[in-house]
Amino acid sequence: MITLNVNGRDYAIDADPTTPLLYVLRDDLRLNGAKFGCGLGQCGACTVIVDGETAYSCITPIAALAGRRIRTVEGLGTVERPSPLQQAFIDEQAAQCGYCIAGMIMRAQALLDRNPQPTDEEIRTHMQAGLCRCGTHMRILRAVRRAVGKPGSEAKA
Ligand code: FES
Ligand code: FES
Repeated sequence: MITLNVNGRDYAIDADPTTPLLYVLRDDLRLNGAKFGCGLGQCGACTVIVDGETAYSCITPIAALAGRRIRTVEGLGTVERPSPLQQAFIDEQAAQCGYCIAGMIMRAQALLDRNPQPTDEEIRTHMQAGLCRCGTHMRILRAVRRAVGKPGSEAKA
C-alpha cells in the first residue's frame, strides 16, 4: 500500500510499486486529464507536477512518489471555475483535438509557479518539451502569454 497525495488529498493505493503514476491517476483515481501519448517520456501528454517540477507520469513509478505532492490539471480549476491559466487556454482556443492540452497546461503552470512573469523566450524554451500533434503550438504560447497578462502575440496561428 502506498499513500499518494494528489491535489491536496491523500489516497491509499494498493498497486504494484512499479505501476506508472499515469495508470493510477486514470484507472484508480479517475483523474483522466493526463493522457497516455507515447508512454516513453517523450511527448508530454501525461505531464503532472510533482513537488513543483514537471514529471512524465507515464514513466514515473508510484514507488517514487510516497510523501510527495502531486498536482494534476483537475487540481487547478473546474469546468465552472477554470483557473486563470485554463481560462487563457479557452480564450485562445488553444485546443484542437485537446489530447496534449492537460499536459501543456501543467507544464505551463510549473513555469508560472516559479516565475510569474516569464519572458517570451522563457515561455518558448520551457514549453518546447510538450508536443502537439495538431500543431497548435502558437496558440498554446499565446495562451501562456495571456495568462501572464500579455494578451495578443507577435506570432499568429
Ligand atoms: S505519454 Fe508520457 S511523455 Fe508521452
Ligand atoms: S491539440 Fe491535438 S495534440 Fe495538441
